[in-house]
Amino acid sequence: MKILFVASEVTPFAKSGGLADVTGALPKSLKKQGHDVRIILPFYSEVERGGYGIRKGRKSVDVMVGGSAKRGLFRHTTLEDIPVYLLENKEYFSRDHLYGTASGEYPDNHQRFAFFCRGVLDLLKKMDYRPDIIHCHDWQTAMIPLILKKEKGDDLFFSKTGTVFTIHNLAYQGLFPREAMVDMGLDPSLFTIDCLEFYGKINLLKGAILTADVINTVSETYCREILTPEAGDGLDGVLALRRNDLYGVLNGIDYEHWNPATDRGISRNYTPAAPAGKAHNKKALQKRLGLEVAEDVPLIGMVSRLTEQKGFDLLEALLPRIAKAKLQLVLLGTGDEKYLKLLQEFAALGTDNISVNIGFHPELAPQIYAGSDIFLMPSRYEPCGLGQMIALRYGAVPVVRKTGGLADTVFDERDQSREPNGFSFDDYTPEALWEALSRAINAHADKASWKKMMKRGMAGDFSWNASARKYEELYRQVLAKKGR
Ligand code: ADP
Ligand code: GLC
Repeated sequence: MKILFVASEVTPFAKSGGLADVTGALPKSLKKQGHDVRIILPFYSEVERGGYGIRKGRKSVDVMVGGSAKRGLFRHTTLEDIPVYLLENKEYFSRDHLYGTASGEYPDNHQRFAFFCRGVLDLLKKMDYRPDIIHCHDWQTAMIPLILKKEKGDDLFFSKTGTVFTIHNLAYQGLFPREAMVDMGLDPSLFTIDCLEFYGKINLLKGAILTADVINTVSETYCREILTPEAGDGLDGVLALRRNDLYGVLNGIDYEHWNPATDRGISRNYTPAAPAGKAHNKKALQKRLGLEVAEDVPLIGMVSRLTEQKGFDLLEALLPRIAKAKLQLVLLGTGDEKYLKLLQEFAALGTDNISVNIGFHPELAPQIYAGSDIFLMPSRYEPCGLGQMIALRYGAVPVVRKTGGLADTVFDERDQSREPNGFSFDDYTPEALWEALSRAINAHADKASWKKMMKRGMAGDFSWNASARKYEELYRQVLAKKGR
């Protein structure tokens, strides 16, 4: 099959969170299964800075957005042997961040990603490349299924191309004022309740849910949750309309990239059979971050976007207890201003058992996974979560809230259904988190059984193998719908 991945971030080129891990890893697995896979993303400043052997292409497109024709140039490179195309436009993509700053989104995001989506489809024609499947991710690419269904329904060039739309996070919907329709080149007739209109605004995610051939999200539990009013973010009714085409496919992690046996960014390599090197990583992390070098004190790590989703308000409530407890807490994160301030307040407390690290630091993250005994993810909701899977692979035992993909990957002894590999709690309250964390800390004191739990986590399979097969099935289903 010919599969084109279209995404607003892809590892290693540009990353703000797990989306990039997925779009950088799943194509490699599909390629190994024998498919012709290609990837396309915007050519941001940070991609340009990275180099990546990117060359200028000869193709260009002129896209009508924001009332005038905007020129897009195509660049290209490869990710291993997968062709990667990058759409360049300085006005839209030469900026310091991908989507906005700590104080808010860029106001012209609708134009930026309308330009991207239209540019991608125009390029396909210029290249005379007809994918069987266009696999789109999140609202930034939502216009692709919408355009194919509503504008290009009669276009023979695309008549055999089907779309899969993956929702990585239902909270990001691409909401814009009605007036933006014109800017994005969308016909006003699409602003209706059965298409883009959502409480008086444009909702791009809704448009994709209604028009993609198949829709999926990134874990089975989250897939069930989003069909309820509590977790549906206003779109549960719309999702219910597509219930027969909606699937949950658990993410994997890139086992070549996230591998404590070969990771060059950690201070000593280790394996489930010989995990002794992990203690060395803990010591190195403690030294690097100025924490007391103490083998027996449980070190709790957290690597996270700083948003409403991730449970920092629970942590805030527990801070006085954490500061006094016999544990060390290492935080790495960046994101919303509100939570940046909160982390700065944590740092200002001056307690010597908490290390606050603000910023996006891909070189520090693996050191935290490798150096932590416990990995914390107390999310309010979590579509899948990769942090806990990476932590498991690096022998950091996860403590998580039992929601979404966290419920599908972390098993508490209380579940009794699976062999335990971590600790979880149900209620979104500081008390429930503290209770689970305390159980983990107590368990850590029993070295022999802790080691067993750690090894069991490391031996679990969170690679892409099984999930890539599931995507393959979804693609076949789309082709069947297209009569192929
Ligand atoms: P989300 O996609 O909601 O942010 P995931 O757990 O799916 O959550 O993925 C997060 C990914 O981003 C992981 O690879 C994690 O290591 C990485 N990450 C998050 N914050 C940072 C940071 N501040 N610095 C480096 N890597 C980070
Ligand atoms: C989103 C979700 C996260 C998921 C990631 C990759 O950012 O918040 O749970 O793991 O996408 O699918």
